[in-house]
Amino acid sequence: MHDPPNILIVEDDPRILDYLSIMLTHIGYKTQTAGDGLEALEKVEEEPPDLVITDVFMPRLNGFDLCARIKEDPRTRLIPVVMVTGMNSFGNRVRGIEVGAEDFLSKPIQPVEIKARIGSLLRLKQVTDELVNAEEVIFSLALAVEAKDPYTKGHCHRLSYMGVEVGRRLSLSEEERQAIKRGGILHDIGKIGVPDNILLKPTSLDDAERELMMEHPVKGEEICKPLRTLAPTLPIIHHHHERIDGGGYPDGLKGDEIPIGARIVAAVDVFDALTTDRPYRGALPVKEAVRTLHEASDSGHLDPDVVNQLLEIVNDKGVKWAPIPQ
Ligand SMILES: [Fe+2]
Repeated sequence: MHDPPNILIVEDDPRILDYLSIMLTHIGYKTQTAGDGLEALEKVEEEPPDLVITDVFMPRLNGFDLCARIKEDPRTRLIPVVMVTGMNSFGNRVRGIEVGAEDFLSKPIQPVEIKARIGSLLRLKQVTDELVNAEEVIFSLALAVEAKDPYTKGHCHRLSYMGVEVGRRLSLSEEERQAIKRGGILHDIGKIGVPDNILLKPTSLDDAERELMMEHPVKGEEICKPLRTLAPTLPIIHHHHERIDGGGYPDGLKGDEIPIGARIVAAVDVFDALTTDRPYRGALPVKEAVRTLHEASDSGHLDPDVVNQLLEIVNDKGVKWAPIPQ
């Protein structure tokens, strides 16, 4: 059996606080209480609730600022916040919407109303939690694949970071940059199906091994497909080994037929491989890496526009600008 949902009630009037706490406990929820916004933030930190019900006007930190702080923090932004306002306080509701509140309750609070509103928000929260959990599993899988090879430590995070920076310079939309951020981590997740003796082979692969290795973009897409939130990232996973001249795989797409996110991930993938240690060689000097990238762009392997942007960033910030993840 599941634990009852945990609701944090924030209210500076002890009588209303008691009233709400008794009512919600009676309905079957677990409750925590706080007398103002600051105390509420401490409680959120200690034991993240499934939902917050907050008064608007309170000492130290009011309900608007509390809600804004909860919504700013990526760890807590998915917790639904319900604001309790006066019957006719249109202005407060507008302000509440601006700071990200999901719903409002009017004083005096009616048990039937609170039950209905909280019930639907909690159901939504449960679905979101399940989705977030599923996404976390997939991201952990991708990092587990990366961790098999000690030489590629941090590669996915660097790729993600560098790809987003190139996307910004190419004026890509927020959604496209978000897809690149995820694609940087997930692009090689399909290698989970490649045996270690092939994945970590220090010498070149034979034909059968190479064929198996080349299945990883399609396998990776299949792994991520069931998650709807990853839909914009799928083309990046699928096409990150295509070449501008059509000589890549799996579909042999050419030029602009290759999604821009995939062209970016392909270029930063090559760049990061060149500038980090490998089992068969040390990291290349920057000059040599830059020359190799130019060659890859001239020969029709990588997108010249993407390579130019990438090299501009290297020129501006140096070769090791991407932070090393902890
Ligand atoms: Fe790959």
